[in-house]
Amino acid sequence: MPTGLQHWVSYKASPECALNLRLGVNVDHVATLRQARGGHEPEPVAAALLAQSAGAHGITVHIRGDRRHIQDRDLRVLKEVLAVPLNVECAASPEALEAVIPVKPSWVTLVPESREELTTQGGLDVIFLQGMLKPVVRELRSAGIHVSLFVDPVLDQVKMAAKLEADAVELNTGTYSDLPMDSDPSLELGRLRDAARLASRLDLRVLAGHGLNLQNVAPVAAIPEIEELNIGHSLIGRAVLVGLERAVEEMLTAMGEARP
Ligand code: PXP
Repeated sequence: MPTGLQHWVSYKASPECALNLRLGVNVDHVATLRQARGGHEPEPVAAALLAQSAGAHGITVHIRGDRRHIQDRDLRVLKEVLAVPLNVECAASPEALEAVIPVKPSWVTLVPESREELTTQGGLDVIFLQGMLKPVVRELRSAGIHVSLFVDPVLDQVKMAAKLEADAVELNTGTYSDLPMDSDPSLELGRLRDAARLASRLDLRVLAGHGLNLQNVAPVAAIPEIEELNIGHSLIGRAVLVGLERAVEEMLTAMGEARP
């Protein structure tokens, strides 16, 4: 274990949370800050351990082809020290799989990736990419890794995810989250509800995420089939102001209020 991490590792994971909705905390932005100076601080692994001690049920990181934030070393250390499941987002490319499979995270979430984007744009088109995805899903699963496909809340995409034998879909909440404050979210929420219901009927586990924050999380958290939310930007942004543990606790409270 890298020196300096022992202190954080000694933080104990919280007791099992009664909430039947899990929170996966994405710590990519902590690595973005570290990479801004190319040094060692802040340490994304320490952030992950703090989030875990505050009650996060999982930690998510995205290893991008350009390594703009999370590095290969982060994956290895996270896998070594976390008590909660590690979910690694990556492209379905041979290079990404070569970096991720040996680490054996609990989950891999396959996402679309382009160099120009600031963050993941839209879900993976699993219908268009079915031929390429089939062997990738099989390879990951035969390595003992659960596979989640990040898809838009579109019924045909969910059906194809089931056909590809993924373990889960992560429904992209980006379009819902990007709605202007004064607009009616019912159409987007309806798409998320319908997609979640279908995924569950098809025996897929249902996760959701992208752009969720304290203001917009409740209606998504209230969708009963969704078992985990993956949240990064708003949590790390809030953590800069109030600390990561408090930011995680606030989000867990907001989720719990929506899912009594
Ligand atoms: N889910 C996926 C698949 C993502 O790519 C991201 C962003 O890395 C998230 C969830 C979290 O989104 P946000 O940072 O907007 O909370």
